[in-house]
Amino acid sequence: MKLLLLCLGLTLVCIYSEGKMEVVKNFEPSKIIGKWFTILIATDQKERIEEGGTMRIFLDYIGVFKNSSLLFKFHRLDNGECIKVSTACNETDEDGVYTAHYDGQNLVSIADVKYDEYLIILMKNENNFQVILLYGRQPDVRKEIKNKFMEFSDRHGIVEGNIIDMTKVEDPCLQAGSDEE
Ligand SMILES: *[C@@H]1O[C@H](CO)[C@@H](O)[C@H](O)[C@H]1NC(C)=O
Ligand SMILES: *[C@@H]1O[C@H](CO)[C@@H](O)[C@H](O)[C@H]1NC(C)=O
Repeated sequence: MKLLLLCLGLTLVCIYSEGKMEVVKNFEPSKIIGKWFTILIATDQKERIEEGGTMRIFLDYIGVFKNSSLLFKFHRLDNGECIKVSTACNETDEDGVYTAHYDGQNLVSIADVKYDEYLIILMKNENNFQVILLYGRQPDVRKEIKNKFMEFSDRHGIVEGNIIDMTKVEDPCLQAGSDEE
């Protein structure tokens, strides 16, 4: 038991400081460029994905800068208003692992990907919570992919009640006629 607690404590420290994250092998950043649809979001702090929550985000576009940082463009509802965010995620020493400043400092890893179909991203925030996101190239993905995501979230200790299906959430920016790029 003591050992288990020690490991739990150390894991958090190690994950944050060393970037030990579950990540795809031979990640090819240029292949995730383009438009993505938000399918599922899981987190261990549910209020973050409830209405008005900072992590209830609709991804619009992923790009890659010349310096190899990734560009994430997304939007969300904030106090009833649609806001757009563009953020750069820098590379780390580890392939497929990036840093991001959003709602605090984060380590972002490309946990699973099939470039023409889906993308699973794991984000660990310094404030002791994680967010797992499933994106699709189309507005929805196959049931098998969703099941895979559920298992992945479960392995990371996130219960099913803490997962939202974004395909059923009305996009707050739709009327704004805003989908450039
Ligand atoms: C890479 O370029 C982007 C866009 O100019 C910038 O936001 C980001 O901070 C840069 N990353 C590094 C590591 O310099
Ligand atoms: C990326 O690197 C640039 C240049 O070093 C830095 O200004 C910026 O804060 C970094 N961003 C992240 C998300 O780490």
